[in-house]
Amino acid sequence: MGIARCWQSAGVPPASPSFIYFNHFAHFRFSPSISASDLLRLSSRRLVWATKAQSLTTMATEQDDCVGTVKGQIAKLFEVSLKVTVPNEPDVEPLVAACNGKFGDYQCNNAMGLWSKIKGKGAPFRGPPAVGEAIKNNLPTSEMIESCSVAGPGFVNVVLSKDWMAKSIQKMLIEGIDKWAPLPPVKTAVVDFSSPNIAKEMHVGHLRSTIIGDTLARMLEFSKVKVLRRNHVGDWGTQFGMLIEFLFEKFPNFEDATETAIGDLQAFYKASKQRFDADPAFKERAQQAVVRLQGGEDKYRRAWAQICEISRNEFHKVYQRLGVHLEEKGESFYNPYIPGVIETLTKQGLVEESQGARVIFIEGVNIPLIVVKSDGGFNYASTDLSALWYRLNEEKAEWIIYVTDVGQQQHFDMFFKAAKRAGWLPHGDSSYPRASHVGFGLVLGEDGKRFRTRNTEVVRLVDLLDEAKSRSKAALIERGKGEEWTEEEIESTAEAVGYGAVKYADLKNNRLTNYTFNFDQMLNDKGNTAVYLLYAHARICSIIRRSGKDIEELKNKGTLVLGHKDERDLGLHLLQFAEVVEEACTNLLPNVLCDYLYNLSEIFSKFYSNPECKVIGSDMETSRLLLCEATAVVMRKCFNLLGITPIYKI
Ligand code: ARG
Repeated sequence: MGIARCWQSAGVPPASPSFIYFNHFAHFRFSPSISASDLLRLSSRRLVWATKAQSLTTMATEQDDCVGTVKGQIAKLFEVSLKVTVPNEPDVEPLVAACNGKFGDYQCNNAMGLWSKIKGKGAPFRGPPAVGEAIKNNLPTSEMIESCSVAGPGFVNVVLSKDWMAKSIQKMLIEGIDKWAPLPPVKTAVVDFSSPNIAKEMHVGHLRSTIIGDTLARMLEFSKVKVLRRNHVGDWGTQFGMLIEFLFEKFPNFEDATETAIGDLQAFYKASKQRFDADPAFKERAQQAVVRLQGGEDKYRRAWAQICEISRNEFHKVYQRLGVHLEEKGESFYNPYIPGVIETLTKQGLVEESQGARVIFIEGVNIPLIVVKSDGGFNYASTDLSALWYRLNEEKAEWIIYVTDVGQQQHFDMFFKAAKRAGWLPHGDSSYPRASHVGFGLVLGEDGKRFRTRNTEVVRLVDLLDEAKSRSKAALIERGKGEEWTEEEIESTAEAVGYGAVKYADLKNNRLTNYTFNFDQMLNDKGNTAVYLLYAHARICSIIRRSGKDIEELKNKGTLVLGHKDERDLGLHLLQFAEVVEEACTNLLPNVLCDYLYNLSEIFSKFYSNPECKVIGSDMETSRLLLCEATAVVMRKCFNLLGITPIYKI
């Protein structure tokens, strides 16, 4: 996976109004090749650019002065330097990356690329190292930077100022971590996730979609994006004919058919399918039922609504346990929009006849996208095209994210391409409005096969979650918490740990890989598990409690300093939180945030177990308690973004 471009440079201007550049003027070391008036011109051009982009970029001022990522702030300084260094190359994007190496914390890697662009054009440099040197010299002074050096073929290394780092962390403690939110280039996004099918099984694939989608939504929400959390349930389609007929047959007063009466809707589905396959007369009635339902006949609509409601209650039990919030707009919602959308696409010349069906041909794919079946009915693709149209035009979403298993990749690929052909989406993949498919691999059982329960029936998700909870409860009892804690504390901790373990085990892997579901592994209190991390957080909280100090008071009255190397390492990692969230969001990879969280707990342990960094009772107690608190705050934000409830004592 290549390095993601940061949001501040991803084809959208940085979220800083131009006055920042004016502020820097006082510090410029002017290079002879550029005049002050040039700089003013550059700067006012930036102003126009910023205004034009206002619709896409939420400006820093509107974000009540969110500072953005450290990487972004460093990149802005380099952007200024590059404009001065190579004034004839106006649109060079600063290439800045965290390097956490022995030469510095961040590195600017523009010199080599720039050299190959400018050499032979009369530029006053003799090679990449000289370009690097000039980039370094033209860097505006900033309180962020302690020192700067050029290494090898022109890498410009930046060492952050310890004072600035300490101040920034303390500021975050006082003002809250929301000030560290990254600034994405969109205001509204749709996350289409979970999306099970009515009356069919909600399987572990839907569990993955629910967990991954919720995290992505949370990360975007933290970044101040308005997120429409869409449950695109499969609530339309021919299967409803047979379900409705079967309902009428089993329950002549069908309105009495409640969840308890039907019992298991999946079993009901199976039985109706058997009936459908075995009895031609029933099949005929079922097909008629579809027509009557789609024609809007009242009795059929009510029966349909009844079946959906029973399913919905079942899904809700899973969402409730997971603490996931979704807004249902099922396939049926978009049905009225389909004819209009197909007509528009037809008028644009995109829809063609093929073997009785109406299809859209996609370049590079040998099968076409069917949008009207040969029987005249609509399908998954026509619904998805209409939903995309609705999301772009009615809901004004700028980023639409779909979370399903990788098996559906081709479907998404094809209909995104169709939308590009129609001009709904731009051609480049990183410009907005943008549609992204977030695919994920299978959940495997310990036998390496698709996850099933012992009796090879499908896994009931509610049972799975209940088991995680009861196992973590048993572990707490075993640790003697039964005597120490109230029943309520046991219950809430068992829930936090049990559900947290299921979520984390899923999220920590790159989503594209298959992952093995294993209770023993995920509930282990050692290694990269939620249990380990939740306990690590609780331990930090207990350090603070044991100090007997009022941490709120220390935040304002005390001073955080990063004197020891282990303190500085921890501080740097804390400061990189926002850019990790940004990366996880840009690449839609929650495991990036999990890695960060796990590393944070490791770096904290290194600091805390170092006798030179003694916390309680040392001269540096106040500062170190603040560092403990900052670690706990960032850990909690990570948990929050991963949908995990933190625990405060163990
Ligand atoms: N209901 C589908 C399934 O269970 C997932 C829907 C995903 N969302 C979408 N807009 N196609 O496979």
